[in-house]
Amino acid sequence: MTPPSRTLARCYDLTVLGEVGSTSDEAKRLAATGAPHGAVVWAKRQTGGRGRYGRQWDSPEGNLHVSLLLRPEANAATATQLSFVAATAVHKTLSAILSDALVQGEVSSKDVNITLKWPNDILLNGKKIGGILLESATHADGKLDWLVLGIGVNIAHFPDDCPFPATSLDAVGVKGISAKIVLSRLLHHFAVDYGIWEHDGFAPARAQWLHHAAYLGKEISSNLENEEISGVFEGLDADGALLLARKDGTTRRITSGEVFGK
Ligand code: BTN
Repeated sequence: MTPPSRTLARCYDLTVLGEVGSTSDEAKRLAATGAPHGAVVWAKRQTGGRGRYGRQWDSPEGNLHVSLLLRPEANAATATQLSFVAATAVHKTLSAILSDALVQGEVSSKDVNITLKWPNDILLNGKKIGGILLESATHADGKLDWLVLGIGVNIAHFPDDCPFPATSLDAVGVKGISAKIVLSRLLHHFAVDYGIWEHDGFAPARAQWLHHAAYLGKEISSNLENEEISGVFEGLDADGALLLARKDGTTRRITSGEVFGK
C-alpha cells in the first residue's frame, strides 16, 4: 500500500479548553472562521454537551469530549463514512486500554468486550461507553464545506438516567487513565485510519467495523420515522447503510435511525 497523500496527524491543530458549551459547537464556529482540516477542540468539561436526536450528553471532567473539524475532498454522503472510521478508531483505543488493564490485573477478561452499534455507538459489555455525533455543511454547489465529528467517551463517569444502559472505563475497574491519554491514542488511530480511508476508500473501515459489530446476525428492531421494523441484522451496505433481512425474504436498507437488540 502506498502512503496516504495527506497525513492527518501532521494537520492536527489542537485547542484545549477547560470548559465549553459543546466542543462540536466550538469546532463549527472555527469552521465558519475558515479553520483548516484537522482542527481539534478538546474540553475537560462541557456544559451543553449534545448527543444524537438533540439528547443531552453528560460531560463531567474525567470523561473525553472532543470534536474534529475535517474538510475531506468528498461529497457529504461519502463523508458520513468517517463516523465509521472514527468508531473503529475508538474501538482500537479502548481495546488497547482494556488489554493493558487486563495485564495489570485491573479487569477480568469478561470485561474487555468492546463492540460497535450501528450507526456510531461504542459499547462495553453491551452498555454504551461512547458515542459519535456527525455534523456537516455543504457549499451551494453541493460539495462538502466541513464535517465535525464529535466524540464522547465515558472514562471516569457514566450517566445513570439515560434511555439506554451506560458504563465507563472506571466502572469496569480501569483506574488512572486520563482523558489526555485516551485522546492522544484516539487521535493517533484516527489519523492512521483516515489515511487508509482517503487512499483505499470505505472498504477497510467497513470490514473492521463489521468485525466488531454488535447484534450482527441477530434479530434487531429499528425506529424509522413512521414505523418500527424488525429483522435480522445482515450487514452493512457498501455506503454504510444497515441491511435488515425481513421475515418476508426482502432486505431493507436503513440509512438513519436507532437500532435495538431483541
Ligand atoms: C451520541 O451517542 O448521541 C453522540 C454523543 C456525542 C457526544 C460528543 S462529546 C464531544 C462532542 N460535543 C458534543 O456536544 N457532543 C459530542
